[in-house]
Amino acid sequence: PPRRSHISRAQFAAELTQCLVEFVVQLLPTQDELSIKEDVRKLLERLIRTIEPDSRLLSFGSTANGFSLRNSDMDLCCLIDSEDRLPATDLVNMLGDLFARETKFHIKPLPHARIPIVKLSLDPQPGLPYGIACDIGFENRLALENTRLLMCYAMIDPMRVRTLVLFLKVWCKRRKINSPYKGTLSSYGYVLLVIYFLVHVKNPPVLPNLQQIPPLRPISQDETHINGFNVWFFDDVNLLRQRWQSQNTESVAELLIDFFKFYSRDFAYNTGVASIRAGLLTKESKGWDNDPDKGTARERNRLCIEDPFETNFNVSRCVTRDGLYTIRGEFMRASRILAARPDRAFVALAQLCE
Ligand code: GTP
Ligand code: MG
Repeated sequence: PPRRSHISRAQFAAELTQCLVEFVVQLLPTQDELSIKEDVRKLLERLIRTIEPDSRLLSFGSTANGFSLRNSDMDLCCLIDSEDRLPATDLVNMLGDLFARETKFHIKPLPHARIPIVKLSLDPQPGLPYGIACDIGFENRLALENTRLLMCYAMIDPMRVRTLVLFLKVWCKRRKINSPYKGTLSSYGYVLLVIYFLVHVKNPPVLPNLQQIPPLRPISQDETHINGFNVWFFDDVNLLRQRWQSQNTESVAELLIDFFKFYSRDFAYNTGVASIRAGLLTKESKGWDNDPDKGTARERNRLCIEDPFETNFNVSRCVTRDGLYTIRGEFMRASRILAARPDRAFVALAQLCE
């Protein structure tokens, strides 16, 4: 197509929005992939029940919250509804043996990890060009709840929230800033940054704060707490969509441009904590600042993102000084590319994900 000269801001945003939506749609998992994964879950659940009859195997993470891309891994959580269950370490070893005997998966039991898990993987094969990677953990009820919270946020405004989140997930993988083991941020961390931005930074907000909407009926402690943490949030999305309408009409592209701008230069990295539950908090108020008595606190808390439920937990604790420098550099690079407004929006998109 012929090159146009100066493209207006509004026209660029409209074109970029369309590009983003089209780009993300082709990265969604296929129906085949989803049904194969569901079959795998059922098979594994059936096997686990030969050892623990009262168990359930549930999906969490991206497979369950609407933020999954093609070939994303499967996060599974085993819940056992009985009093005298085996210790996780024993269970991991027994399941490792069982799966190795009964399935074609490669199995790696990690009974002594901080959170004991069994890792399974399947090599690529016809109909499954990327294989499958799957982790099974135990009794991780908080992860099931934060998955449900993210799913509810996605459902309030699927078009804007899912497009933004999915694009950022692809972007951070392509830019290689999505490895907690190497000092950068997990996918979960990036998703929380997006939600924080849409709830607390954008004015008017794109999303309401689901943890601050009062419940429709009184609820007891027992119903709201898991391991001492309050996991209550307003989860009746249908009702919410009838009663709450965002006053924010910005397009996906406008939000993305602003997201990169905000995290390049406006977020208070040195002193601030991004909390979905409570808005901007200070490191000081959480004891996450540079306290000499706490030794490595400063190194662990370069970037602070409070888990929505486990409020004493910094989701970005693995982000190192260098990692944060790289991530911020990437936010700035993205901002620059978008501010330059190339004549054609898909060029910007290609550059972003180079
Ligand atoms: P992809 O696997 O890249 O598609 O992303 P994902 O959305 O599955 O995210 P990720 O694999 O990083 O995390 C999966 C789930 O594990 C999240 O939805 C959370 O429920 C849980 N999780 C991951 N990291 C943390 C963490 O640091 N703290 C807590 N509490 N939960 C976590
Ligand atoms: Mg995952």
